[in-house]
Amino acid sequence: MGAAGLCAFDADLALASGAKAFGIPMMLSASSLVSLEEVARIAPGTWYQAYLPGDDRAIEAMIDRVKSADYDILVVTADVPVPANRETNVRNGFSIPLKPSFDLLWQGSTHPGWVTGTFLRTYWRRGEPRFVNLEASGGPPVLSRAAPRPSNRRDRLSWQHVGLIRRRWPGRLVIKGILSPHDARLAADIGADGIIVSNHGGRQLDGAVAPLRVLSDIRQAVPAMTVMLDGGVRRGTDVLKALALGADFVFLGRPFLFAAVVQAEDGVRYAARLLAEEIDRDLALLGLRSLSELSPGLIVDAFR
Ligand SMILES: Cc1cc2nc3c(=O)[nH]c(=O)nc-3n(C[C@H](O)[C@H](O)[C@H](O)COP(=O)(O)O)c2cc1C
Repeated sequence: MGAAGLCAFDADLALASGAKAFGIPMMLSASSLVSLEEVARIAPGTWYQAYLPGDDRAIEAMIDRVKSADYDILVVTADVPVPANRETNVRNGFSIPLKPSFDLLWQGSTHPGWVTGTFLRTYWRRGEPRFVNLEASGGPPVLSRAAPRPSNRRDRLSWQHVGLIRRRWPGRLVIKGILSPHDARLAADIGADGIIVSNHGGRQLDGAVAPLRVLSDIRQAVPAMTVMLDGGVRRGTDVLKALALGADFVFLGRPFLFAAVVQAEDGVRYAARLLAEEIDRDLALLGLRSLSELSPGLIVDAFR
């Protein structure tokens, strides 16, 4: 999740270290505030998620940076070619970059805990907060009068560029934001190792299908590929449903962010433990001994 460092001090690090301590992967966003090099030092094994433009040179430079920092898994997010129109954010005045305004001042004065514990603490400890991992050379500041940047030629990113990424990136490559069997096959044909079936947590296209609804068809389209899923996973039962329908793995977004905001790394570990306990208990309540016994037959589709 991008801008996690705006929700809690060093939340990117809390998420990465909490995941590492629990033995699960964490995906560092391109829009994170702690450098990908520092995260890799503190939590080796973290995955890096890139927002890449349709520009060969920018792609090559970014891949080289991630490679030098010893990442093994590169995730390319495919579902943000242009910024979404988030009307909640239009109403509450949130934008990236954050624009100094009376509204922002008012929000700050009415949330002093956030101002001192997150925003000013980041300034004191790390200097001006920036999206340091967006491009090979760094990225823009979080607070600026400048208008939000256009999506930086992300709308030009094509499958040809994914081919280039595949040739240049020696590690495992994952495409995030796939919702159709056709795109899953294209990803497999181009040599991606895995996909994440995702609608970006429902934050991009109003009316996009829920990932769980298309999972079975995608699984069948690419039987040999690693198929992962995110979006709306909150409980052990949600994890089991996705695995039963063919996912190899699931990710959670917001629940871990909330956990990091409440109690940093400890909160992340606590949330992971809750989930693991639920998965274990729910398996037993289904009468199963291990995840390998899950199958699509356990799911009753009430909408069919
Ligand atoms: C605050 C926030 C920021 C996000 N930023 C990114 C991002 O930078 N890159 C990305 O690929 N997905 C991003 N996502 C989408 C998540 O990676 C993930 O697909 C989604 O949150 C999963 O849904 P869940 O939150 O219901 O678990 C973001 C989601 C949230 C809530």
